[in-house]
Order: sequence, then structure tokens, then C-alpha cells
Amino acid sequence: MTNFVNTPWTDRFASRTEGMTSSAIRELLKLTADPEVISFAGGLPAPDVFPLEQIDAACRKVIAEQGKSALQYSTTEGYLPLREMLCRHMERYGVKVTPANVLVTSGSQQALDLIGKLMINSGDRILTEAPTYLGALQAWSGYRARYLTVPLDDEGLQTDLLEAQLRSGPKFLYILPNFHNPGGTTLPLERRRRLVELASHYGTPILEDDPYGQLRYEGEHLPTLVEIDAEFNGAAAAEHPFRGGVMYLGTLSKTLAPGLRIGWVVAPEAVIFRLVQMKQGADLHTATFTQMVAYEAAHGGFLDRHVKRIREVYGERRDAMLAALERHMPPGCHWTRPQGGLFLWATLPEGLDSGKLIHEALQQKVAFVPGASFFPLGGGQRSMRLNFSYCNPEMIQEGVRRLGAVIERHLAPKMVAVP
Ligand SMILES: Cc1ncc(COP(=O)(O)O)c(C=O)c1O
Repeated sequence: MTNFVNTPWTDRFASRTEGMTSSAIRELLKLTADPEVISFAGGLPAPDVFPLEQIDAACRKVIAEQGKSALQYSTTEGYLPLREMLCRHMERYGVKVTPANVLVTSGSQQALDLIGKLMINSGDRILTEAPTYLGALQAWSGYRARYLTVPLDDEGLQTDLLEAQLRSGPKFLYILPNFHNPGGTTLPLERRRRLVELASHYGTPILEDDPYGQLRYEGEHLPTLVEIDAEFNGAAAAEHPFRGGVMYLGTLSKTLAPGLRIGWVVAPEAVIFRLVQMKQGADLHTATFTQMVAYEAAHGGFLDRHVKRIREVYGERRDAMLAALERHMPPGCHWTRPQGGLFLWATLPEGLDSGKLIHEALQQKVAFVPGASFFPLGGGQRSMRLNFSYCNPEMIQEGVRRLGAVIERHLAPKMVAVP
């Protein structure tokens, strides 16, 4: 831990803090505050696509028409018109639920934490992908979770390696089927079906985290695991479209703005009931004002139009990064080709360690996140996560050129012929 002055508080911290780490990304982001650094490190949406005018108009409308309730405490479950809108929105993506199944959270990060608080006893094993979303590990390590992992390949979780892990009885399985963070992968339909089938066979609940599902730049939308889970109900699926074997996390962070801190969890009513209790202890409810503003800004078709625009901008940036990698990466490097989302995953040639390269990269004013941070059980030293949403295409081109040169320099000594 950093060198803080000891106080009577510091030696009384709960023992669970021993398992807690600072996010490597947050630490890196501090270093990338230098405006000259081209940062592929964060997971930040591009500020140039923030809907400033729409949010401005929504704020005024909320204050003018519902100011007194917008500034008041409200229900823990969330603002009903917003939950209804989320249900309509999700229905088009195969998640058919009513507001009774939806809890609004302060970003989907809070949903991860509340689920940890609800589900994880010290020492429980959670099955994740390797690599996986760092924020989930951070949230659950605070509850002293342990991990089992299944590796990703270029198409996502390797379902042929899943069964052995399911057999050992994890508490639940956490997965990002769409445009993985950090992997940039999209789980194909056959693997989705196999995954739900296997998890259902072993009675393992699935937590499907889908912050990027709508940000698809090519290919066809694939059914959510919630939808596939319902299909397993056969003829009853039409009547019970939400079977509850899969819980689903959504967020407006990547489609509207992360500063609003609006996420949600879709869960069986019995789970929502408990999550509401957890949330009351955490923050009573998500800010009434931002929930109302998000609803005002998003409903009536704006969100769809806005998502279309984001797809155009990010799709172009993804293409710029893929072209720049093709051009500047030394032979032996490999990277995923994301169909959507914000990230791609690059793997360096044998013998290189991205954790060592990052210091030189920062000197050369380019940043990425070393891959090892995303592996709960170690590994990933040769890999790195690159974000392509934040920088414009010119910066992407220049940043990848700098990165390629750093990698090249580390490869060079090995290429010198020994006399
Ligand atoms: C996979 C995943 N889950 C959850 C989150 C948390 O998002 P938020 O709390 O902004 O909704 C993120 C953010 O980057 C993410 O990538």
C-alpha cells in the first residue's frame, strides 16, 4: 500500500481489505493525464459523442416540470418510467422482462458489487473467463472470492474447457459474450447455446454482463444468454420469457454517458428483493435527478439515433486501429478483430512482457493496459488491452506507430546474429 501516515483507523481495517487491490487502470490513468500521452489505456467513451445538448434540455425539463420530486429521495428499485423504458429497449435485444425484474443501479459496477455482497461468502469460487473484466474482480475480491477460470480464444470463452470447471461447483459463472472487455471477442451462437446448456445441466447460474451489446460495427446481432436460457423452457418460453438461470447487467454508460452512473440488473424477483436490501445499505437509491434526466434524454427514439451515431464514430476508430496495427506491429504480434465494443486484445511475440514495456511506452507517450491485470489467477504477460474509442483516427495511427516502435526495439536484440 502507498505510504500513508498511520492513524488509529489504519490498524483496525477489516481483514477483507487484504484481498483488495487498486485498479491497475486507475493508476495508469493518473500517468496518462499528460496531454501528450496518446492513451489506449482507459475504457473511456469519446467525449465528442456525449449528447450535451440533449442532456442540457433534459435537465431543464426535469427541473421545470418535476423539480421537487427530482431533488427528493425516491424508491430503491429506481424511477419507474426509466425501468419501463429499459424493459422496452431490452425486449428488442431478446431480454423480455417487466420492471419487477429490473433494479436501477449506480452504474453496472454497483450491480457487480451488490451481487458480490449478496452471493459471495469468504472463499466461494466464482468462475470467470481469463482474461475478464477487472472491475468485477475488484468488487468480488472485497468479499474474499476465489476464482476458477476458463481461457478465451479469438472467439471468446472456450466452451470445450468449461465442463471440468462447472463440475467443481462454482457459485456462479460471470461472462461477457459481446465485444469482451478486455478480449474484444464475441461468443458465437453455438458456443452460447453450449454454455447455457452446460451451466443449466450443472445448475450453475450465469451472470451475463453486456455493456457493449449495442455497439456492433459489423455482423448480425446474436441472442443474449437470457434469451437462450428462456428457449430451454421449450414451449413455455413464450409465457415465461425470463427463466432466471441467467441474470443480466446493462448500463447507459457506453450508449449515453458514464457520468450519469445509470446501470441496471435484470434478475428474478426474489433476487431483486434481496438486492434492494443490499442497495439500501449502500446508497438508498441511485440519484433521482440523473435517473429522470437519463429517461428524459433517452426516451422517444433519441437513444437509438444516438447509438447509431456512436457506432459510426467507433466503427471508424476500430478500423483505424486495425489498419495501424497491420502497418506498424512487428511480425509475431497477434490481435483480435472486434465486431464491436471499445477494445481489442493484442498478444506480443514469445519472450516479451507487456508489463515491462509499459514504462518505455509511457516515455514514448503512448499508453495501454498490460494484459496480466485481467487474469485472476496469473498469466497474460504477453498481452495488452488497447482501447480504440477515445482517440480520433489520427491519434490512433500515431499511437500505434509509437507502440510498434517500442515493441520493435525490444525484439531487436534477439535478431542480432551471434557470431
Ligand atoms: C464489462 C464491464 N462491466 C461493467 C462496467 C461498469 O460500467 P458502469 O459502471 O459505468 O455501468 C464496465 C465498464 O467499463 C465494463 O467494461
